[in-house]
Amino acid sequence: MRILFLGDLVGKPGYSAVLKHAESLKESLKLDVLVANAENASDGSGLMPRQFKRLMEVGVDAITLGDHIYKCRDIIATLNKDKRIVKPANYPSESSGRTWTVVPTVAGPLGIISLMGRVFMRPVDCPLAAADRAIDEMRQANPDLNHVLVDVHAEATSDKQTIGRYLDGKVTAVIGTHTHVPTADTCIFPGGTAFQCDAGMCGPYESIIGRDIERVTETFRSFEPVHFHVATRDVRLCGVIVDADPDGKAIAVERFEKRLDPAG
Ligand SMILES: [Fe+2]
Ligand SMILES: [Fe+2]
Repeated sequence: MRILFLGDLVGKPGYSAVLKHAESLKESLKLDVLVANAENASDGSGLMPRQFKRLMEVGVDAITLGDHIYKCRDIIATLNKDKRIVKPANYPSESSGRTWTVVPTVAGPLGIISLMGRVFMRPVDCPLAAADRAIDEMRQANPDLNHVLVDVHAEATSDKQTIGRYLDGKVTAVIGTHTHVPTADTCIFPGGTAFQCDAGMCGPYESIIGRDIERVTETFRSFEPVHFHVATRDVRLCGVIVDADPDGKAIAVERFEKRLDPAG
């Protein structure tokens, strides 16, 4: 199974780039499945139902989110009814959305889980216990499930590494999101789990994690909040490509980056 996981889609630049390139990427990279984190698709915060629908139409197979999950409240109905989108599995049980999903691919089913970290984030349940619960549930419901992709949405690399090491041998890949900066630690752990601390965002890199540099700097200096516009220049699609054997073990992993505006 060949998986491409794309990091946080940020605003119109990131969202539009994925719409434009998803189909050709699936073909040129010979992907079996394309999964994306879309928590920042709507002007930098949240995901609108019509954006979710369009992403599905162009061939994205499933969506993960993160701390901005409910910023567009209209997405709640989608989270409650559509099987191709998940909430963080360690969010409160009262929160809207499913804790795991399984999408069919030509190479077999792929289970998908999202987990939130706990350092510099809202307090949430233990991600390790939540992962165990979600994996048990999805394997019970899908006895033929060998492949599982985990999106770790966390601020701290230590959170991400702890979760990745804990899940080594239990899932196919643990890929981080949320910091919007791709990391250079791409590897396969000894148990056969592919790992990278952060996939990087799909969005404008001439920015501060996707936002207008001057606006962020102004608030940094003055403490006076202003709306952070999504930046526009140096748009890149970033993610991680994982190849896995039929048993669900990763056999190759590489960082994916497509620069759409090299001149900036
Ligand atoms: Fe994000
Ligand atoms: Fe986030």
